[in-house]
Amino acid sequence: MELTCKVLLLLALCICHAESADPLGEFCNTNTNIGKGSQISANIDRLLAELVSKTPSNGFLATSFGKGRDQVFGLAQCRGDVSSSDCSSCIQDAANVIRRRCPNQADSRIGYDYCFLRYSNKSFAGEVDTSFGILLGNVANVTDPEKFKKELGALVDEIRAQAVEPRNGGLGKGETKLSELVTLYALVQCTRDLSPINCAQCLAIAVGNFENFCDNRKGCRVLYSSCYVRYELYPFFFPLDSKNTMAAGDTLMAIVYP
Ligand SMILES: *[C@@H]1O[C@H](CO)[C@@H](O)[C@H](O)[C@H]1NC(C)=O
Ligand SMILES: *[C@@H]1O[C@H](CO)[C@@H](O)[C@H](O)[C@H]1NC(C)=O
Repeated sequence: MELTCKVLLLLALCICHAESADPLGEFCNTNTNIGKGSQISANIDRLLAELVSKTPSNGFLATSFGKGRDQVFGLAQCRGDVSSSDCSSCIQDAANVIRRRCPNQADSRIGYDYCFLRYSNKSFAGEVDTSFGILLGNVANVTDPEKFKKELGALVDEIRAQAVEPRNGGLGKGETKLSELVTLYALVQCTRDLSPINCAQCLAIAVGNFENFCDNRKGCRVLYSSCYVRYELYPFFFPLDSKNTMAAGDTLMAIVYP
């Protein structure tokens, strides 16, 4: 990775999800610093209020607020398999946390497993953006890398094809049995402002990390501003096909850039 990276080793990260408002990561673009009492800052607050109130009903909203140089553009989206109540709490957390962590930046982004939120003084809808990235992987490796790579590749091809079907809202998900006891689960999600071709492009870049960062890891996530991919050896998307979603004790490793 050519960019400067923050590398964090998260020991025994707790996966008691829906419990904390900790994001996977956020990006505060320091090239877009703004004043606290500025009109644009007030517009961001209005924009966030609209995103919080209107996103959960269909899981996606791209909108703008204000005029001229103080106009701000925003996008919020929940993963397509997430309920509207989980969506609502995720977007609320996102809106609160991003204003605390990026109080003075017009271009800010924040990502969770269940949702993603961003705003900027520059219009960005429809564009593929992979400039901000979070890679999060299990430090443990699979035991049969050859077979795993083949099965993962086939599953990901299948769910990428789902994601670019307009009626699927950028979501693809599926599972495949690796053995009697082991099942592989994978999910891809594009932001819904993307055309199918741009969705395919973002996913290709995200899945490109399977070769390097994710290589043979038992689980891995890649989050960009335009798409998200994740695979695990336990169920993590809805509807859950078992109660056994815990990965407690797994050690994860993260790279956040820029
Ligand atoms: C966004 O804000 C930054 C910082 O105030 C400014 O430099 C930049 O020109 C603005 N961009 C647009 C498209 O207005
Ligand atoms: C997993 O495999 C990588 C090489 O592919 C190796 O560097 C790493 O130490 C392995 N991790 C464990 C926990 O064995």
